[in-house]
Amino acid sequence: MSNFVKIKNKINKFNKKLSIDGDKSLSIRWALLSSQSLKKSKASNLLLSEDVISTLKCLRKLGIKIKISKNFCEITGLGLNGFKYKNNLILNAGNSGTLGRLILGLLVHSKKKVRLIGDKSLSKRDFLRVVKPLEKFGAKFDSNRGKLPIKIQGTNNTKPIKYFENRGSAQCKSAVMLAALNTFGETIIKAKKSRNHTELLFKYLKLPIKIIKKDKFDIIKIIGKHNIPSLNYKIPSDISSAAFFLVLTALTKNSILEIKNVNINPSRMGVLYILKLMGIKISKSNIKNYKGEKIADLVIKSTNKIKPINCPIKFNSSAIDEFLLIFLVAAKAKGVSYFKNLSELDQKESPRLKWGSKILNKIGIKNNVTKNSIKIFGDPNLKINKKIIIKDFLKDHRVFMTSVIAALTFGGEWQIFDKDSINTSFPSFLKKVSYLGAKVD
Ligand code: S3P
Repeated sequence: MSNFVKIKNKINKFNKKLSIDGDKSLSIRWALLSSQSLKKSKASNLLLSEDVISTLKCLRKLGIKIKISKNFCEITGLGLNGFKYKNNLILNAGNSGTLGRLILGLLVHSKKKVRLIGDKSLSKRDFLRVVKPLEKFGAKFDSNRGKLPIKIQGTNNTKPIKYFENRGSAQCKSAVMLAALNTFGETIIKAKKSRNHTELLFKYLKLPIKIIKKDKFDIIKIIGKHNIPSLNYKIPSDISSAAFFLVLTALTKNSILEIKNVNINPSRMGVLYILKLMGIKISKSNIKNYKGEKIADLVIKSTNKIKPINCPIKFNSSAIDEFLLIFLVAAKAKGVSYFKNLSELDQKESPRLKWGSKILNKIGIKNNVTKNSIKIFGDPNLKINKKIIIKDFLKDHRVFMTSVIAALTFGGEWQIFDKDSINTSFPSFLKKVSYLGAKVD
């Protein structure tokens, strides 16, 4: 079967309800934390995408018992520091930065050397950002300047650390939090604001965590070596996956879409705030608190007047995975939009700031990109009448899906490669696109 899609027609107007797959960040965290409990934990609506399956495979290799049926999963953990280490153990994190970085936090106690590997994209990404703080706990690392493959040799005698996370990376913060869980004494983290699912799960599990919220930073204090109770969880829908359909609706004339049960944790809501500032109407209803997370049903209506934005940097972290899509919205705005302090975007599965600019160039939207910013000269009358090919993007799932949304909203004749990449985070993406009436071959 060919590994590309062809799109020749824009999507017609729609008025529908859609369900979205489970949240990736929460699915991975649920599995990792459950492995640290001595009890049985159950999850429903677990995202069974490649990143989560890689997580389950790594845990199985470490001796954890896992049962899966449909999107229901049961994990019987081995307790803190309970992983079983075979000789020459190799863990493959696949495409997942979240898995690769967080699992290192659980391996600071490994009794034997463990080798962590990943795919081509992950092997280009920076692991020094987690290696450095985890070394302070006492673990030893062997790597080529912080790139995979990495060997970790843990210690029985980890020491609590003080750590300053200044990138706004939830993966770095969470790796340290997981290492702290297994370390006697108090670890203190000063962290720039980033998604806080790990903190909320620690709180829900009544683990000894204290959080002092400051304007730009949180101070997180964790006292380690506390038994972890079982974690039964119904994973809510992923706002980062929902975002593709929010933008598709916003840019398709006379359309309305309802998406139920979306995780609108404020540390993930940047995309909603930014779209609102750009004049797009999204209403929330049925707002609930679920084990610390905030869940709501969303209704979005299309807009024909999109406003440009000088995007406040306070939304950078909470919209970090949605910027490619937001750049598409800016392409349709009447005026110039500006996004800054976004160097972290080039640290993702592909260099996404560069890819954002490349997609805009391909659709004929003027943009000025620097190392950490982009200026986009929007055109509300944007129409495309040419062939566009999107390939060689390191199989970055978000580049693929953003290109599909561009094809369906701007027109032109598109050929987009590496359709398998959707399996990383959103396996049902193309089915949902067809359900809304799009023709994708
Ligand atoms: C994630 C954190 C973010 C995000 C990634 C998932 C997480 O990465 O881009 O998709 O689950 O913690 P960084 O922590 O590197 O910003």
